[in-house]
Amino acid sequence: MTRVRKAVLPVAGFGTRVLPATKTIPKEMLPVFDRPAIQYVVDEALAAGIEHFVFVTGRNKGAIEDYFDTAYELEASLAAKGKGDLLEELASTKPSPGSMSFVRQQAPLGLGHAIWCARDIIGNEPFAILLPDVLVQASPSCLAQMIDVFNETGGNVIAVEQVPADEVNKYGIIDPESRDGNRIRMRGMIEKPSVNQAPSNLAITGRYILQGSVFEYLADQGAGSGGEIQLTDAMARQMGTEDFHAVEYDGQSYDCGSKLGYLRASMAYACAHPTLGIDAQNLINGLARPV
Ligand code: G1P
Repeated sequence: MTRVRKAVLPVAGFGTRVLPATKTIPKEMLPVFDRPAIQYVVDEALAAGIEHFVFVTGRNKGAIEDYFDTAYELEASLAAKGKGDLLEELASTKPSPGSMSFVRQQAPLGLGHAIWCARDIIGNEPFAILLPDVLVQASPSCLAQMIDVFNETGGNVIAVEQVPADEVNKYGIIDPESRDGNRIRMRGMIEKPSVNQAPSNLAITGRYILQGSVFEYLADQGAGSGGEIQLTDAMARQMGTEDFHAVEYDGQSYDCGSKLGYLRASMAYACAHPTLGIDAQNLINGLARPV
């Protein structure tokens, strides 16, 4: 079976739900405690064995490309001052040469269109998609758990989690056929259904392993929910001829697409920090005390 080597990270969105913070800074570069949000997503993928990253970017997203490059002046200055520990930390964030590609989505036509923009670089092999709005704390990483399932099932695998009934209209929701432990065979999915239309409360988390054939469906996919070309709609058609499994993964997701979700993620990652976690927890407890 072909190994999952490449991942697509769609990062072209404006981040309107976090304005004004995102007026001049890409939302993926906002710090979640001590590192940009995108670093956690790249680390999750690296921990699952991903070797090549395709960023689907847009205008004003240059800071992402620069972040993964050498910062000559900074590094020379740190070296001159003997700050080896900081240099080491920076080195750990640098990808291996040639392991990142950047393509542009020239118009905000939807997630499905963004993924389609990566088709030439991915080609016809299974690949991962990680939506960087969603951070997942998990061990093994969420994508690693999915790859374990994919290695047994093949086909297409997506991560899901349970959400309250009044939130199904914010997500892609799957239609489960049968369950074996945390693995669910699917028979359908629908993007942002009303509570009456929703076939379950299992929401798509923003992690996918798909066959390259999805690009054929994306090529002529019409606009769906919100007037945008939806990945969910293309996958629902792909399901007519291919297997789809969902994995109810073991871990905790954080939606950084909203101000409070972003705050929650920042606090959670601060508390999980190897050296500053306990101080961060005490600080948060202090703030939570009634005055
Ligand atoms: C996207 C997907 C949706 C998924 C969600 C996860 O929606 O279209 O199926 O459940 O991400 O965060 P968006 O949040 O971009 O509207």
